[in-house]
Amino acid sequence: MTFTAAPALSGDVTVPGDKSISHRSLMLSALAVGESRVEGLLEGEDVLATAAAMRAMGADISRDDDGVWHIHGVGVGGLLQPETALEMGNSGTSTRLLMGLLASHDLTATFTGDASLSKRPMARVTEPLARMGATFTTSPGERLPLTMRGACPAVPLDYRLPVASAQVKSAILLAGLNTPGITRIVEPIPTRDHSERMLKGFGADLKVEVEADGTRIITLVGEAELTPQQIVVPGDPSSAAFPMVAALLVPGSRVTIANVGLNDTRAGLIDLLREMGGDIVIDNPREVGGEPVGDLIVTASALKGVEPDPARAPSMIDEYPVAFIAAALAQGRSVFRGLEELRVKESDRIATMAAGLRAIGVTVEELEDGIIIEGSGGVALAGGGPIATRLDHRIAMSFAVAGLVSRDGVTIDDMRPVETSFPGFVPLLQTLGAMA
Ligand code: S3P
Repeated sequence: MTFTAAPALSGDVTVPGDKSISHRSLMLSALAVGESRVEGLLEGEDVLATAAAMRAMGADISRDDDGVWHIHGVGVGGLLQPETALEMGNSGTSTRLLMGLLASHDLTATFTGDASLSKRPMARVTEPLARMGATFTTSPGERLPLTMRGACPAVPLDYRLPVASAQVKSAILLAGLNTPGITRIVEPIPTRDHSERMLKGFGADLKVEVEADGTRIITLVGEAELTPQQIVVPGDPSSAAFPMVAALLVPGSRVTIANVGLNDTRAGLIDLLREMGGDIVIDNPREVGGEPVGDLIVTASALKGVEPDPARAPSMIDEYPVAFIAAALAQGRSVFRGLEELRVKESDRIATMAAGLRAIGVTVEELEDGIIIEGSGGVALAGGGPIATRLDHRIAMSFAVAGLVSRDGVTIDDMRPVETSFPGFVPLLQTLGAMA
């Protein structure tokens, strides 16, 4: 598919529901006895993989004609032995969180995934979950396919996160739900806190203390009882990132993206783009379902290069690919460092972005832990392709945005992975006036 230079983008849009919150709302609802309702659930392949897994373990999950999801849960500790392997597709979040959830259940489960997921490291979760008593048989390098045997009762864990990962934190918390005693996690660098917020919302006894240096200590009392909830999922800031950057880059654009989640642990891209000179106004800030939300009004702006502090990485970890596109159009050089984690996402996002940017005429230097990008100062990129997206939805969407500010258009080899997180992405860009 080829994306070509767009006239000014304009219009009001909404993006699909938050992927992280959608996964968690299905998992926790499946553990509450009674009916939970979820509005605005992301109906992308990743979240549907979580829904299928929860059904396979006994939860009753359906969607009504108004798009509201109804989940009848089985109670903490009540998940059933799945009869077949749990197919995780492309979804690292489904895999790692479910491994945690099942680690304290008396059952055996096999996890399989696509070629991208099968390359991703799982030791970051198998190591702490093994300390809680779960056992694993993995493919070489602690990868999928793998089979785990949960422990019941599991042993509560006191764990300092060695990697800034909300997936690892959440896996341990979910394991702690059905574990006697107190599970304690020390988080030196804050990561997205949707699990903590939602666990509290479902009635779990969870506390978060923040130390003077910003370290967060999370304690969860095990053998929890969860109460069914009515959840409204806000728009995903990680999806809003694509129309947001497109509106900043395409001259003359003005776009409103309504109902976007603005949790501090997720909103780092907005701060970064503003520092680059981006005109982004947050209108009608409010709270929806325990999460801050607002409408973003984005006006095309001349951007300048940046050197963001790596400590901010977790608050925009999924947004770097599209931030690199913004940097490619900025005035001057941008230096991104401290981003080793990008090498183990759906693709190696440093290598994939560096190769793609070069292919469309951008001068870049790939570093072990980041990338240096020479901006064009607003001059259209040459374009070209096809870009190798390597089963990575965010690579595909980032280069689609680049195509809108290119001379010859940018061709993407495979847009199918976009269905994992952002169904309707291409029609949404077309609504705003983009050409594809
Ligand atoms: C996620 C955490 C992040 C993020 C992923 C979703 C989550 O992964 O990249 O897309 O929902 O907890 P890490 O925990 O590997 O940083």
